[in-house]
Amino acid sequence: MTTPSLLILPGDGIGPEVMAEVRRVIDWFGDKRGLAFDVSEDLVGGAAYDKHGTPLHDDTMAKAQEVDAVLLGAVGGPKYDVLDFSVKPERGLLRLRKEMDLFANLRPAQCFDALADFSSLKKDVVAGLDIMIVRELTSGIYFGEPRGIFTEGNERVGINTQRYTESEIDRVARNAFDLAMKRGKKLCSMEKANVMESGILWREVVTKVGEDYPEVELSHMYADAGAMQLCRWPKQFDVIVTDNLFGDLLSDAAAMLTGSLGMLPSASLGAPMENGRPKAMYEPVHGSAPDIAGQGKANPIACILSFAMALRYSFDLGDEAARLEAAINAVLEKGVRTADLLGEEGVTPVSTAGMGDAILAALDESL
Ligand code: IPM
Ligand code: MG
Repeated sequence: MTTPSLLILPGDGIGPEVMAEVRRVIDWFGDKRGLAFDVSEDLVGGAAYDKHGTPLHDDTMAKAQEVDAVLLGAVGGPKYDVLDFSVKPERGLLRLRKEMDLFANLRPAQCFDALADFSSLKKDVVAGLDIMIVRELTSGIYFGEPRGIFTEGNERVGINTQRYTESEIDRVARNAFDLAMKRGKKLCSMEKANVMESGILWREVVTKVGEDYPEVELSHMYADAGAMQLCRWPKQFDVIVTDNLFGDLLSDAAAMLTGSLGMLPSASLGAPMENGRPKAMYEPVHGSAPDIAGQGKANPIACILSFAMALRYSFDLGDEAARLEAAINAVLEKGVRTADLLGEEGVTPVSTAGMGDAILAALDESL
């Protein structure tokens, strides 16, 4: 078997510093578990713009299409706010998602016990929380045409279009049902069928797909009510499937239930490649946090957990993913905390690299 290949795109802001810790973890699996990866690194976002005048060079796009998995840090920063929309750092990320056709974005929201007190919600509401949001990622209002800022009469009008085909809904729904089968066998689909035709179609198609999954208990919720229920009693959910924009909002909200955005990974999956692995990109849910970049304050856990998702979903190494997740849990149980998680008594503050050290030590202990 050929060595699995990984393309690392650290990006901007805290991206490079959290990715440096991921590289140490990857090396650990190579040294201690004999799991070699063929790792290459390239630019994305503002970093790519600075060098090439584009947030994603065509060569990088081509590489991303060839590797077994892409690991991305974060993109964007105030320095790039003045750029034309077409070359903003975010366009690099959106191009990767679109051209790799990564239609299913898995965003788990899991509350580590050691952090249950850290959530802004009451401990009993979040302790033990383990939900999975499946966000459609390559269609909907993010990509629908027509779009743009046009002139109508004597004023301008900004237009974006929410658009979903049946097949786009069908494939992401199947992905969510498959996940539900491996978890708690409950799926809640969220849209706004009360006001949007795309929502009516969404509900119809998801219901139809559900006929192929009789064991999964399917429910539907309007997305606004879903947001409310996520804050009220999030443990009622197992898997949630929703569109691109609602998924963007709901996953940020769900992330905060767990205490810190610095904890949450994501996987963006497409159709299977020739080798049977899905096209895939893994990235933390958090952004580039330019305000703390370069200060050793960033929490590398979301990015490291994204690599754990790569082990599980791209490389079929669920046991090794669980080993890494358990190591992170052990570190948190010991009270080791980066700056985003300080505040409790008796915790040990560490830098980004200090968190990396602690996780590597816990991995060593797992052997
Ligand atoms: C996310 C981000 C992106 C999105 C931005 C950076 C384009 O918020 O991954 O959730 O809106 O999809
Ligand atoms: Mg977002």
